[in-house]
Amino acid sequence: MKLIVDGKRLDGRSLSDLRTPLAIRAGVLNKADGSAYIEWGNNKILAAVYGPKECIPRHDINPYKAVVRCRYAMSPFASFEEHGRTGPNRRSREISKVIQEVFENVILAEQFPKTAIDIFIEVLQADGGTRVAGLTAAAVALADAGIPMKDVVAGIAAGKIDGQIAVDFGKYEDNFGESDMPFAISLRTGEILLFQMDGMLTKDEIAKAIDMAFEGAKKVNELQVKALKARYVEKEEKGAAPAPGIPPQEPASAEQPPQPAEGQEQPY
Ligand code: CDP
Repeated sequence: MKLIVDGKRLDGRSLSDLRTPLAIRAGVLNKADGSAYIEWGNNKILAAVYGPKECIPRHDINPYKAVVRCRYAMSPFASFEEHGRTGPNRRSREISKVIQEVFENVILAEQFPKTAIDIFIEVLQADGGTRVAGLTAAAVALADAGIPMKDVVAGIAAGKIDGQIAVDFGKYEDNFGESDMPFAISLRTGEILLFQMDGMLTKDEIAKAIDMAFEGAKKVNELQVKALKARYVEKEEKGAAPAPGIPPQEPASAEQPPQPAEGQEQPY
């Protein structure tokens, strides 16, 4: 399958273009301590963060720092194609593990000993590159929860299609390209916190892909920061802001409980 025609990819992008739309919104869930929603190409992903909170089960407790946990899951209706058995599987366990390791390296967990920080990533619609899109949303959700981190990590994939190095593969490029490398990048420290690879590349090709991934990560990170700033403004304006689009909860009954008459003692 040809993936590059006249220098353009099948969706019209150049080799360094990211997919559109690329939009991130912070603070979309009421119950979570922090949350974010990302639309990246045809991916639609929600991330929720709970914590730092009591660590259950207790045998997971680390007396020196917070335990960071991550669950990546793909909804049964997430893909445009049949994708086999739903629910936890080898792939989702692997992705949960590598994303957990990314955040273990950026969260200042020593500040919250004996607690747990739970990160949930739910892929509602999938079209390639969900692990990097998911961790991009999770980084925003963690910042929205006020969890101190060394950086807001950005996810991006780079690799080789039709003999050329490019970034941000859609599902067909992922499936029919020669090599795909998902990255998690901290631009502040210049660290690569996730680096996986399938296919074969030369040393020079890997170096080029890393350079292009850093360039792409800058664009992703700008949008993460923009989403967090918008959330901050929203919180400032509304106080503890409810999730957008959802009206504030009314008490079940507006009636006041009967008050004791003056002089009468409050019964227990
Ligand atoms: O999503 P990501 O590229 O990080 O992970 P992958 O395991 O390389 O999967 C590539 C793509 O294949 C996913 O993003 C989905 O679009 C699709 N896929 C699927 O539809 N069902 C699966 N069980 C696994 C992958």
